Amino acid sequence: MEDFKTYITESTKFLEHKLHDYLKNDEQLLRPLFDSINHSLFSGGKRIRPIFCFAVGEIFDLNKEELASVGCALEMVHTATLILDDLPCMDDAKLRRGKAANHIVYGEDTAILASFGLLMKAYEIVADGDHLADDKKVRIIKEIAKATGANQLIGGQFADLEYSNKQIDYAILEFIHSRKTASLFIASGKTAAIVGNADETQLSAIEEFFKNIGFAFQVLDDLLDFKGKTEKIGKTAQNDSGNFVIIYGEKKSKQIIQESTNKAIEAIKIFKGKNHKLIALAEMLNKRNT
Ligand code: IPE
Ligand code: IPE
Ligand code: MG
Ligand code: MG
Ligand code: MG
Repeated sequence: MEDFKTYITESTKFLEHKLHDYLKNDEQLLRPLFDSINHSLFSGGKRIRPIFCFAVGEIFDLNKEELASVGCALEMVHTATLILDDLPCMDDAKLRRGKAANHIVYGEDTAILASFGLLMKAYEIVADGDHLADDKKVRIIKEIAKATGANQLIGGQFADLEYSNKQIDYAILEFIHSRKTASLFIASGKTAAIVGNADETQLSAIEEFFKNIGFAFQVLDDLLDFKGKTEKIGKTAQNDSGNFVIIYGEKKSKQIIQESTNKAIEAIKIFKGKNHKLIALAEMLNKRNT
């Protein structure tokens, strides 16, 4: 357990060091834009997507250095989506990770540009990385772009807003949650697996694991939104529309989190002996309170 905690701390430190390197800016005129980017990128996120990427990398004997650009790209994309998610025209959230949301501090115009800047930077750093072969870079960029695009994350965000004041059922909620959250989780694992030369069976197992972990993660996010206190969760409580718990209640939501987690763990049995970090991450996420 102590080892696992150290792993999380060290992975986070490694990632943040790399992120700082990627976001250097000497242009005085652009200071406010970079301040806005840094406000959201360094405000205490859990860094779970890059950590997933590093943990899958270990299955294929990759070290963090080999996945640095991919891990940073995943965190940049995630941060970009949060900036947009908080805008008044979306979730209208004033608080993110216990601090003022990006647009509250920097204005909506700068916040939107910061989000786009992060998205573009993500693809630039993967394309630039000199330790990845070109064919792998193309597959990784495609994986992240597909996961983020209109059929996946952006589509999920669209459907979430579209249904915010409409009747919603399980199928639609599953549609939304798997797109807005699980899609980038899947990309976090698959990109590392691609770098590690995973075969089709291994890629499918990784996909199945993250599809289920992503779904469980979003249901728990809804549960925290529904039950948590603003001061604890660092976001305004009861702010989420399309909230799983409002429709299915606490008991069923908890049951679904557990069932999805079990399914996820079952899917990575094929990595026996090398899957303990992924299992520990799944269990840790189910105990989180932010
Ligand atoms: C929040 O993601 C948005 C969802 C997909 C629910 P995280 O809970 O990973 O956010 P941070 O980065 O740790 O704050
Ligand atoms: C956001 O879901 C998912 C993405 C940003 C893609 P939520 O709206 O539930 O996330 P929080 O609760 O604001 O972090
Ligand atoms: Mg939202
Ligand atoms: Mg939100
Ligand atoms: Mg939420």
